[in-house]
Amino acid sequence: VAILFLSETDPVDEWAAALARALPGEDVRTGPAGIDGASVEFAVAWRPPAGALAALPNLRAVFSLGAGVDHVLGDPGLPANLPVVRLIDPDLTRQMTEWVVMNVLRHHRAMPDYAAQQAEGLWREIAVPPARERRVGIMGLGVLGGAAATALVSFGFALAAWVRSRRPWPLGELFAGQEGLGPFLARTDILVCLLPLTAETRGILDGRAFAALPPGAAVINAARGGHLVEADLIAALESGKLSAATLDVFADEPLPPPHPFWRHPRITVTPHVAAVTRPECAAREIAANIRRCRAGGPMRGTVDRRRGY
Ligand code: NAP
Ligand code: GLV
Repeated sequence: VAILFLSETDPVDEWAAALARALPGEDVRTGPAGIDGASVEFAVAWRPPAGALAALPNLRAVFSLGAGVDHVLGDPGLPANLPVVRLIDPDLTRQMTEWVVMNVLRHHRAMPDYAAQQAEGLWREIAVPPARERRVGIMGLGVLGGAAATALVSFGFALAAWVRSRRPWPLGELFAGQEGLGPFLARTDILVCLLPLTAETRGILDGRAFAALPPGAAVINAARGGHLVEADLIAALESGKLSAATLDVFADEPLPPPHPFWRHPRITVTPHVAAVTRPECAAREIAANIRRCRAGGPMRGTVDRRRGY
């Protein structure tokens, strides 16, 4: 077996067909049942069951079905030296850019307030500052955050980003590390989270962060539910510190029906669809990495397991 597909939530047949097309002549299997684990060379996985990868002793790499790898790195039995490769895919990047631009514009143009006014049949203009006075801040300036920033700058927003490692950035103000977080938040009216979920970033969208934002700021989370302290968000919205939030990702997915986010008047929910992996596009990227690996070269998107992204 060359490639084993492991996911309980993705369309297995579509994936098997896409991988077979991208890797002609390779033995592609789905699911661990009935397979000699020692024969598997590469795994393509989304939330693999704990221990599933450890049962494949000759694995050369595991490819995440998505950009995030938290669902793989969270397996305590993950073999120590196994290369973990995240998905870098222009189609995924384009989708995330669309979703982020759409939601930054929604908050910028007061759409949550207009939706509330419509519910009351209220015809009233809300003053909106010009884009150059609207301070948008992006947490995480990687493949997805970087592309979103490039698109947002074309509207003229006052952009800033928060990253781990300082470097020049021509599109706006760059803040780095723990010491940069407070000043970054203090100048951000619309906050976009596009961080990976790591030990350092878990719970980063909490009451302290919301307190550091200017009054009336809006929060957009397209990264992972684990970044957000849910009770702190509700409290910040109730107190009026935050004006609104748009959330695509949640600690518990699917978001359970009784969850207060569903009915909160200042929260917009989308069901983890900001950027959805399309098998046909992703299989091409995974195939290219398999070829790189077999040629002895570096794979694109190999994760630094110590950093967690
Ligand atoms: P990436 O290319 O690895 O970029 C990560 C960025 O986060 C980098 O700029 C990095 O800073 C920054 N960062 C990491 N840890 C940090 C820390 N402790 N402090 C400050 N900055 C930190 O990741 P990506 O491909 O853009 O993906 C980002 C995340 O989006 C994924 O991990 C996934 O969780 C999420 N995602 C969500 C969806 C969805 O549909 N909702 C779809 C795809 C992905 P440096 O530049 O300094 O390294
Ligand atoms: C989706 O959430 C991804 O990580 O690509």
